[in-house]
Amino acid sequence: MNERIFITGASSGIGEALAIEYAKRGAILGLSARRTEKLNQVSKKCEELGAKEVLVYSLDVTDENKSTKIINEFLDHTQGIDIVIANAGVAYSDKISSGDPTQINKVISTNVIGVTNSIIPFVPKMKEKKSGKIVIISSIASFRPIAFHAGYSSSKAAVRMIADSWRMALKKYNIQLTSICPGFIVSEMTDTNKFPMPFLLQTDDAAKKMVKAIDKGKKTYILPWQIKMILYLTRWLPTPLYYKIFF
Ligand SMILES: NC(=O)c1ccc[n+]([C@@H]2O[C@H](COP(=O)([O-])OP(=O)(O)OC[C@H]3O[C@@H](n4cnc5c(N)ncnc54)[C@H](OP(=O)(O)O)[C@@H]3O)[C@@H](O)[C@H]2O)c1
Repeated sequence: MNERIFITGASSGIGEALAIEYAKRGAILGLSARRTEKLNQVSKKCEELGAKEVLVYSLDVTDENKSTKIINEFLDHTQGIDIVIANAGVAYSDKISSGDPTQINKVISTNVIGVTNSIIPFVPKMKEKKSGKIVIISSIASFRPIAFHAGYSSSKAAVRMIADSWRMALKKYNIQLTSICPGFIVSEMTDTNKFPMPFLLQTDDAAKKMVKAIDKGKKTYILPWQIKMILYLTRWLPTPLYYKIFF
């Protein structure tokens, strides 16, 4: 049977690359993001590459009611879900000295509330079928604080913790939880970075590795392996020293 897969933030970067990987496997895809024109382009690519069907949804993940409505529409159509990937995210700086909390709030609501909005509506169906895979895209930023990006690193730590907690709660329903913690991956998010990005991975390469990790049922997948090693070997190093040495 064709896998039924729902991906948020599928209009570019990692989300787009994951959609393409699953399209090659003949999946039925639900692709969502705010930029419909870009999503339609991704949808066309996926159809050409072998997706059985592509359903496109214009969705801001911070909109709880619309998320639930769209997910129910998708479920009505597909009668089930095999994999949901909460990938949509933003990485703005905190604007800590601006006196205006709007920007940091946007990061936290997109990266945390956006994740809960994208996953919870799928859980009753997964429980009923006693199957399903939930994937949350966290980040290596979830392990170390980043100056001026507290919103980003705390949001990514929060969703990694959500995955760890839900894994325990949903195990008895045979629902798998995978959190993915990428290092630096080529995407619109990293295109504007002015600092060095060690072990930068190409988007399609990263997506292939992520799909493999999801297939294997990994709990927390850190990529690339070099970054995982650095995190492991330096876990006792004070954060300022860590950044001095590696960045
Ligand atoms: N690239 C990296 O090095 C890296 C490293 C660690 C973690 N990550 C994580 O990977 C995920 C994907 O990022 P990316 O690198 O692929 O960057 P990207 O190309 O900028 O993709 C971000 C995606 O999220 C969507 N999005 C943003 N806000 C949204 C909202 N409110 N509602 C719905 N969709 C929204 C964007 O689509 P629209 O603008 O069309 O809505 C876009 O499709 C993010 O969670 C990011 O934090 C990336």
